[in-house]
Amino acid sequence: MNHHRVIIDTDPGQDDAVAILLALASPKQIDLLGVTAVAGNVPLELTQKNARIICELAGRNDVKVFSGCHEPIERKLVTAEHVHGKTGLDGTDLPYPQMPLQEIHAVDFIIHSLLNNPTKTITICALGPLTNIASAFKKDPRVVARVKNIILMGGAYFEVGNITPAAEFNIFVDPEAAKIVFESGVVLTVIPLDVTHKALTSVKRVEAFRALGTPVGKAVAEWTNFFERFDKEKYGSIGAPLHDPCVIAYLLEPSIFSGRYINVEIETKSALTRGMTVADWWGVTNRKANATFIGNLNDEKFFSLLTEKLATL
Ligand code: BDR
Ligand code: CA
Repeated sequence: MNHHRVIIDTDPGQDDAVAILLALASPKQIDLLGVTAVAGNVPLELTQKNARIICELAGRNDVKVFSGCHEPIERKLVTAEHVHGKTGLDGTDLPYPQMPLQEIHAVDFIIHSLLNNPTKTITICALGPLTNIASAFKKDPRVVARVKNIILMGGAYFEVGNITPAAEFNIFVDPEAAKIVFESGVVLTVIPLDVTHKALTSVKRVEAFRALGTPVGKAVAEWTNFFERFDKEKYGSIGAPLHDPCVIAYLLEPSIFSGRYINVEIETKSALTRGMTVADWWGVTNRKANATFIGNLNDEKFFSLLTEKLATL
């Protein structure tokens, strides 16, 4: 069984919350070095608080949570309360967190971890805008070559955009950061909307979470119920796409997923298509491949893995 040293960079968000819980439920495979919060779905003061609420829900007050960048590298923050609610974690009531926030900045924690662990031993799971990661790469370029790999939720090709007609939310919020990461040369796996829109909850799947009979099962069922309403209305789908848990599931069971190693570039200039992930899925350019772009998953296996793991918390 592979053992991964992991930093989760995140903007919780109900689906981020489920992803973090999945990681915490997998201690044999994942050594979680820290959770770094970034502004995204909601402002930073909420994402860092939400990250601690989630760790406490799992009884893991020992996890190190760091607060990172409060706005994108060059732009004003765009948030998604219309999807996630005012708190970012609407849907269930959980207590104000008691565990402390770490004193150092998330960007410095990322740099410090990469410099002080053997090279190419750290996987970064990125569940939000890429601001913290790109800022670390900018601040200390030595760390880039020390990253083992990045698995990120972001982008879309066949599904195109969810925040604009052309762009997916995480990339749209900070396209300059995404450009830095996609051009960094780091081994990259991209989990776009093309695949996360196939990881849909259903009444049966949500009830399976609730039937766990634990505080975690109840919270996940209530979060996904809340989160569902938006996508059901927008896409006419049967449930909510569990975007971010796909990142952790990919780390745990890559065989559930399939994709192509292709070139992906980020649009930063056009006002019309800002944040678009221009994915050369059909190989129509000579541009060098820089990312494994995932297109499909076995949704039954994904939900079985998720439910079985959550049952251990
Ligand atoms: C992504 O944006 C957020 O709303 C979700 O948490 C996910 O990371 C999906 O576009
Ligand atoms: Ca997210």
